[in-house]
Amino acid sequence: MDARQLRRLIPTHPDRHQAKTMIKKNNCSLLAYNTFGIDAEAKCLVEYDSVDELKEIIATKCPDTPVLHIGGGSNLLFLGNYDGLVLHSRITGISIVSQDVDHVTIRVGAGMVWDDLVAYTLQQGWYDLENLSLIPGEVGASAVQNIGAYGAEAKDTITEVHTVDLTTGEERTFEAAECCYGYRHSIFKTDAYRGRYAVTHVCYRLSKHFTPRLHYGGLSRILAEQGLLDTLTPQTLRQTIIDIRNTKLPDPKVQGNGGSFFMNPVVDRAKYEALAAQFPGMPHYDVDPQHVKIPAGWMIDQCGWKGKAIGPAAVHDKQALVLVNRGGATGQDIVTLCHAVQQDVKNTFGIDIHPEVNFIG
Ligand code: EPU
Repeated sequence: MDARQLRRLIPTHPDRHQAKTMIKKNNCSLLAYNTFGIDAEAKCLVEYDSVDELKEIIATKCPDTPVLHIGGGSNLLFLGNYDGLVLHSRITGISIVSQDVDHVTIRVGAGMVWDDLVAYTLQQGWYDLENLSLIPGEVGASAVQNIGAYGAEAKDTITEVHTVDLTTGEERTFEAAECCYGYRHSIFKTDAYRGRYAVTHVCYRLSKHFTPRLHYGGLSRILAEQGLLDTLTPQTLRQTIIDIRNTKLPDPKVQGNGGSFFMNPVVDRAKYEALAAQFPGMPHYDVDPQHVKIPAGWMIDQCGWKGKAIGPAAVHDKQALVLVNRGGATGQDIVTLCHAVQQDVKNTFGIDIHPEVNFIG
């Protein structure tokens, strides 16, 4: 990334001084706003550039209008048109909140592309986001979904989440402890809080010392095979993760998808041991002494779904955890496939698997 690109990522002025360039579109196609490539329509879509603009939108909108706040659209499945107001943040920018010799805490606009943030932090010599390289989506969603990969999760570095209440327009800061983070879970996904708060900024505390985390997903084996383990740099680790993801996961620009469609189920140890006896070689990750995580992708693969399709919806041929739009699929087409896969996994393993992707409508 050259200096000009970095300046684009990091506007020096605070967002309240940015030029007002709010974009408003009526009867707007959502095709460009969801990576699944579902051709749904929103009654109205507004993209805002500052906290003040967001407050203005809330203050002037009709109180009965339903509101959906989206990020990069990489975790959404539209089941039909959205008869309400869709909001999207274009708040970007990174500022340093505090730092000492070992750590830096930064505040980042929710509309920044997640992987641009990862790339930027590594360039600065700030670490702990490298395992989350190339996860699609934007900074705001990292705090809602608690995105994770290769043994790291957003919650490991998040210190505060700055939000605006979409009903009152009031600003509220959530300390990390209040966010109730768990595997792909936060307070913002609970029934009481879902859709209520728009994330405007997220604060991350990063280390100035690189500590590679290689225990997950065969990372150390892959690095050793490539002869990279002994001279490992943060950039090499990032590039290796990017290469793995590019090999296994479909590019949404080529084939619509929402990344991992299902969450990996966590079962109690007794259930895992019974299954392991029945299915030798079943991969698993210990969560705690009582619980074990079983890869849903492996179970779906075992059920023979890899590469199979129902109409325009298919299970990806390289990673069975991902459902793809082969072209022209509706949200309902994807749901039909989702239900067939869930039923088969339930029949074979006695385990319910649940979507990670959020259904809208
Ligand atoms: N597996 C199969 N067949 C498949 C897919 C997976 O046998 O079709 C097996 C693999 O061989 C491996 C195990 O299942 O033994 C786990 O697979 P993998 O390491 O690819 O990871 P995952 O559990 O399928 C999770 C995250 C991914 C993240 C990877 C790497 C969830 C829901 N998904 O996938 O996150 O990149 O680990 O850490 O936890 C995402 O959220 O969009 C995402 C891609």
